[in-house]
Amino acid sequence: MTQLDTVILPIAGNGSRMRPATDAIAKELLPIYDTPLLQFALEEAVDAGARRIVLVTRDDKPGIPEYIDKLRARPGGLLDGVEVVFADQPEPLGLGHAVLCARGDALPGAVGVILPDDLILGAPALAEMCGVYDPASMSCLIAAQKVDPAEVGSYGIFDPEGAESLSGLLPARGLIEKPAPEDAPSHYAAVGRYILSDAIWDVLEQTRPGAGDEIQLTDAIAALGGISGFRFSGCRFDCGNKEGWFAATERFRRTKFEAEAMAAE
Ligand code: G1P
Repeated sequence: MTQLDTVILPIAGNGSRMRPATDAIAKELLPIYDTPLLQFALEEAVDAGARRIVLVTRDDKPGIPEYIDKLRARPGGLLDGVEVVFADQPEPLGLGHAVLCARGDALPGAVGVILPDDLILGAPALAEMCGVYDPASMSCLIAAQKVDPAEVGSYGIFDPEGAESLSGLLPARGLIEKPAPEDAPSHYAAVGRYILSDAIWDVLEQTRPGAGDEIQLTDAIAALGGISGFRFSGCRFDCGNKEGWFAATERFRRTKFEAEAMAAE
């Protein structure tokens, strides 16, 4: 079981697809039923063994430091023994750039990355990935999900070497950011959980803007190689848009009520 000392949460985005809810509140603090989106990501990072969580954000992102302070103030709480540090992403230059902004705060060794927008309910996905990450044979392990062929242009898409293994691993020759449907090598999409060897840092430094004129994490991963997808067992919701948010809220509420009903039996 790989221990991830550092988990990076890129959260500098402005949540434009969630307006007007995000006009004065950070998207990561909007609740899924009763729980802010950020809380799920923090819990998943802690489940994966994080000793340090790096929040890559902007100076003017409201409420996030206050939320962390509240969590820290709770004795016996989630963040006991876990450091939370803030790294600034002054300009929105892409996900690769956001991750690179955390370089100076990362502890030695492989790092985890969680994109909080990609909410995964069920088994904690990053911890599941720690169970299968093999540093001897992989540089990058990335959560993978099959998507509708019409949706490939919204994701990083795997170029698999063969079929997925019984343990859910999908070794890949490459990863392509937001291809046109006719150029997509598969329908396996990267979703927002990554384990990256520390060799990623030098590659990210060299990565030039790609799709959308942004510095893409996908391009750095493709350049580094040693890529494997992982078919996680939880259920993923895209909480970067309103419909995904609503679906996640319904599912989380139902799961919560079912758990309470079972506990009461
Ligand atoms: C980012 C990544 C993309 C990945 C996606 C998962 O895209 O660049 O490779 O498939 O997250 O949600 P974004 O959604 O930020 O455009």
